[in-house]
Amino acid sequence: MSESENIVLNVSGVNKTFGGLQALSDINLKIKEGETHAIIGPNGAGKSTMLNVCVGRLVPDSGSVMFGDVPLTGKTPYEINQVGVARVFQTPEIFPELTLLQNVIVPALAKRDGNFKFNAFKPLSAEKELIEEAEHVLEDLGLEDQRHDISASMSRGDKRRLELAMCLIQHPKLLLLDEPTAGMARHDTNRTIEILKRIKSRGMTKVIIEHDMHVVFSLADHISVLAQGAIIADGKPDDVRGNPKVQEAYLGGAHL
Ligand SMILES: Nc1ncnc2c1ncn2[C@@H]1O[C@H](COP(=O)(O)OP(=O)(O)O)[C@@H](O)[C@H]1O
Ligand SMILES: [Mg+2]
Repeated sequence: MSESENIVLNVSGVNKTFGGLQALSDINLKIKEGETHAIIGPNGAGKSTMLNVCVGRLVPDSGSVMFGDVPLTGKTPYEINQVGVARVFQTPEIFPELTLLQNVIVPALAKRDGNFKFNAFKPLSAEKELIEEAEHVLEDLGLEDQRHDISASMSRGDKRRLELAMCLIQHPKLLLLDEPTAGMARHDTNRTIEILKRIKSRGMTKVIIEHDMHVVFSLADHISVLAQGAIIADGKPDDVRGNPKVQEAYLGGAHL
């Protein structure tokens, strides 16, 4: 297999400005199939902007994002989701008035049917297989006991896990996660790391934006470091850890 064949996401020459601010400057990234690729960097480095460009929430000023042979640039977030890219945002995006189980069923129906239309004449109980799968995914994430609770009342950490469940039921080829453990207590963080490791063993490709070094070094196969909108280092975790440029930019000289 040639190298180009197993590149799932290819970000090439991406620039993005906000007014006078160069948020992304000539970004080039290749994400390999099956890998967990972490993007790290200080606050304001451009990490979320990068992810938003990949999922169609922001249009780059120039450059392209390819998902296999499919150009993502110019596509809507919905279209990008339909081709097999799912994402967990920094702020959980769930349906607070629905139960956890209903929250997981909605994206599964949207994926299967193209969109989700509420049909009062077809009760959800008719979707037996789908409900079983949704229950299975919730169980996988340790949320099964809460499945009939209204999701508004969940803790922030649980909401983030629910959002992950809503992604997993879509069986995406590529999963993008923006700080999946932000706002979680340490035991919740460790639990999320275990879940993400399990997903990895199923071969799903992941891009993970993360602040928490414990999470990054527990999960990443490859790390790209962003600082002030540019990639300043890229490589295996051990190479990046020892890179003085990274230590200076990211930690003000402290050791990783
Ligand atoms: N919608 C926006 N409008 C204007 N400036 C923005 C917008 N989004 C992000 N920025 C700016 O772009 C820079 C990168 O932001 P962001 O991608 O959120 O960084 P990170 O996720 O690495 O913390 C920051 O200086 C931020 O203030
Ligand atoms: Mg961010």
